[in-house]
Amino acid sequence: MKHILPIAAVTAIAFLFIYLANLSSPAAPTQSMHTINLTDLSPQQQTQHQRAMAAQGEMFQTLISRLTAAMQEAGPTNAITVCSTDAKTIADQISTKHNLQIGRTSNKLRNQNNTPPAWATQALQSNPTEPLILTNKLGALALINPIKLAPTCLQCHGSPTGSNPDIAPQTQAALNELYPNDQATGYKEGDLRGWFWIQVPPQ
Ligand code: HEC
Repeated sequence: MKHILPIAAVTAIAFLFIYLANLSSPAAPTQSMHTINLTDLSPQQQTQHQRAMAAQGEMFQTLISRLTAAMQEAGPTNAITVCSTDAKTIADQISTKHNLQIGRTSNKLRNQNNTPPAWATQALQSNPTEPLILTNKLGALALINPIKLAPTCLQCHGSPTGSNPDIAPQTQAALNELYPNDQATGYKEGDLRGWFWIQVPPQ
């Protein structure tokens, strides 16, 4: 009888832990994202989708206009800062303004800080070439939108080698300095360069 009480207590505590573990585990699967078709979005999800697209449009426009202005003014080598410092600031400002999170990523990163958030990593494994919409049971909506390479992008993401390289030697030297682990060269016009990812919280 002496031993029964401690055994009972240990068993009770063990069961309590198992119970608590089970209580907390259902939260994890509900957070995982699954894909959904554009035509299947609820009115609420359509609003989230429109908000995400508005934020992406603004980010794209801001980046392109800053990049074009800097390239015309001072050439690609100096325009690198638009991407290296401004891109992150622009993403942060647009995230705050639109109350969501937005960023750019790639399967061949130039800046290792541009790794995608955990939910996007899985969706990006198949290198999607078409837009993806994801949602979870908590009501978050997320988008993954492919970014294709335009001719102007080649000056910093094209070929650095050959007799007529897309990337000028001094631009390549500046890239080497800033990004010693750069994987984002060797692209051709129209190639899939990466993706915008956007995460809209539950409404
Ligand atoms: C003036 C040089 C330059 C031009 C032109 C340029 N980029 Fe970049 N790009 C960069 C730099 C530098 C980075 C790294 C940004 C950072 O540090 O976050 C980058 C990063 C990116 C990333 C984020 C993923 C990663 O690899 O870190 C994407 C996506 C991207 N560029 C796409 C494009 C596209 C599309 C174009 C054409 C519309 C373009 N870039 C034009 C210099 C350039």
